Amino acid sequence: MENKKVMLSGIQPSGDLHLGNYLGAIKNWAARAEEFDCYYFMADMHTITVRQNPADLRRRTLEQLAQYIACGLDPEKNTLFIQSHVPAHAELGWVLNCYTMFGELSRMTQFKDKSAKHKDNINGGLFTYPALMAADILLYQPDFVPVGEDQKQHVELTRNIVQRFNGIYGDVFKMPEPYIPKAGARVMGLTTPDSKMSKSIPEGCVFLMEKPEDIQRKFKRAITDSDTENCVRYDPQNKPGVANLMNIYSAVTGKSFEEIEQEFAGQGYGKFKPAVGDAVVEVLRPIREEAQRILADKAYLEKVYTEGAQKASYVAGKTLRKVYKKIGFVAR
Ligand code: TYM
Repeated sequence: MENKKVMLSGIQPSGDLHLGNYLGAIKNWAARAEEFDCYYFMADMHTITVRQNPADLRRRTLEQLAQYIACGLDPEKNTLFIQSHVPAHAELGWVLNCYTMFGELSRMTQFKDKSAKHKDNINGGLFTYPALMAADILLYQPDFVPVGEDQKQHVELTRNIVQRFNGIYGDVFKMPEPYIPKAGARVMGLTTPDSKMSKSIPEGCVFLMEKPEDIQRKFKRAITDSDTENCVRYDPQNKPGVANLMNIYSAVTGKSFEEIEQEFAGQGYGKFKPAVGDAVVEVLRPIREEAQRILADKAYLEKVYTEGAQKASYVAGKTLRKVYKKIGFVAR
């Protein structure tokens, strides 16, 4: 336990978990429990940078926990918790706000995207969000932060904060590395292959809890290309829709792009699209069934998140005390 490397990541319960979250992030967490000391949380504090319906947020936070476990995150081997249950996140978040530059925050793609989408609510939290994310990470001194491609910029900013902070106070934080999967790091929308899969375009987004027939329908309607070639070939520049489907198929089956091209040689998109749909349905089926079973057991979920918050608070508290001491706060 002592010498194990540490991994940490989180997902916002602002929408239902989708295939992008699974392939870009969770799938890579589950396999690593023996090798690493792992912390995964529901990033509920981050979600309120955009208005949430309170009842939905509460429901989705618990559903997300059930889905984490169903995806293979054994609570005995991983520390699973709700971000707002560990006050050290807010506390270190404030400190790191004071070590994060306005210019750095202004350059964040997620801030630019979200402020364009929510013009009537460009609040301070939306802007300083990456300082809270840096706190989420640094409290646990992780070696690796497994995320999809779109979160890499935030992890890079966290690394800048570490450099700045350690430069002033000595070796306080460990330098974290982003850990990005080879296949599935950037799953695109099935109807919008030029933008990432996200809950905001539901017709192109496959949710983990969706019924098999709905998943199949979405894959059958997936956009392929405007060319007339009708040939399964990996060419992200000219055939982004096909490349995205190949990427998904590769991530769920482990097959290489060459193997996929061979498998569908001469068969066209009419065969390929439902085959990708089938492969995804089969990967998600046991997850959906298990999540439904776990979600029915509220007492079990409560036990998991209560124990998770206790374990997380212990580790986070150690880092926070160290930081407070370094910056000159009087010990409590
Ligand atoms: P969030 O909640 O938007 O996404 C959660 C994880 O899913 C990945 N992801 C994708 N991967 C591939 N293709 C996609 N279409 C796709 N969409 C989402 C994301 O890269 C991410 O890994 N700020 C974070 C949450 C967070 C966090 C943290 C993560 C808060 N604190 C500390 C790591 C460490 C976010 O908004 O991710």
